[in-house]
Amino acid sequence: MREKLESLKVSAEEALSRASDSRELESLRVRYLGKKGELTAILKQMGSLAPEERPVMGALANDVRNRIEEMLGKRSVEIEALELEKKLQDEDLDITLPSKRKVLGHKHPMNILQDEIVEIFRSMGFVVAEGPEIETPYYNFTALNTPEGHPARDVQDTFYFSDDLLLRTQTSSVQIRAMENMSPPIRLIAPGRVYRKDDVDATHSPMFHQIEGLVVDKNITMGDLKGTLDTLFKELYGKDIKTRFRPHHFPFTEPSAEMDLSCFACRGQGCRVCKGEGWIEMLGCGVVHPRVLEYCNIDPTVYTGFAFGLGTERMTMLRYEIEDMRLLFENDMRFLSQF
Ligand code: DAH
Repeated sequence: MREKLESLKVSAEEALSRASDSRELESLRVRYLGKKGELTAILKQMGSLAPEERPVMGALANDVRNRIEEMLGKRSVEIEALELEKKLQDEDLDITLPSKRKVLGHKHPMNILQDEIVEIFRSMGFVVAEGPEIETPYYNFTALNTPEGHPARDVQDTFYFSDDLLLRTQTSSVQIRAMENMSPPIRLIAPGRVYRKDDVDATHSPMFHQIEGLVVDKNITMGDLKGTLDTLFKELYGKDIKTRFRPHHFPFTEPSAEMDLSCFACRGQGCRVCKGEGWIEMLGCGVVHPRVLEYCNIDPTVYTGFAFGLGTERMTMLRYEIEDMRLLFENDMRFLSQF
């Protein structure tokens, strides 16, 4: 019996030290110490011992039990720690890894410029007006003193849906819609998209943007037009910037002019931006034609006005020295993120 107990102890010690998880440990406990376990089986043979041997074997059996229990406890603590360690490794979360960056967008360069211009006009008491991009020839042409048969209406240049519906070719149509709905004094700007049947190249696109301006009040003169545009460009480019007005022709203004700006890049010296001219052609403008006011039931003997229209793409390209208009529409982040 002594040998049996000794060998039980040795085999239990060995098995316990090899156990690698808590389930295995539990089955070893059952195997050695359980009711039908090996130790119980040995103790059942106590009856066959000589009476003086029984207490000695009893004490030895207790030692073996204690030893196995002690090892069970020790291994259970060790295995728990190992299992925790393993679990932590499996659920590996490395908080030192860089996180996935959210890319925040920002304003498109054209919106940067448009918003600046709108803000400057707001500070001068202008409101922002809008009109539809699908227009009738009346608002796009007729009421702007551009009668049927005028070359500007040519189907070669303009997107018609039908004889009486087209994509507006200019934001000037908003002038008419605004004057029909407001009475003077009127001070508005109308930024928006316009369409022309142009092929895409570095300076053309069949869809582009304009910002229209209109002022109608008593005693409005060419001087007010000049002062307003001068203020706009001094705000945009600095007090030493100059404007220059050259006679031109538009059907809806009389007199009409094109406004040049002294080059903001070289301050008039001549450079790449102004192509050596010192001046940059900026926009069309003029005094509202009396016939346009009449179309809108505004008495031209009481009221006068001025108007202007500028190309947003062109202004953006000049400001940021962008050489190809297509860059503004291609949405290439490598380009756009520079602004
Ligand atoms: N609508 C003109 C164009 O697209 C630009 C323009 C010129 C607008 C003179 C005006 C103006 O309001 O007075 O070419």
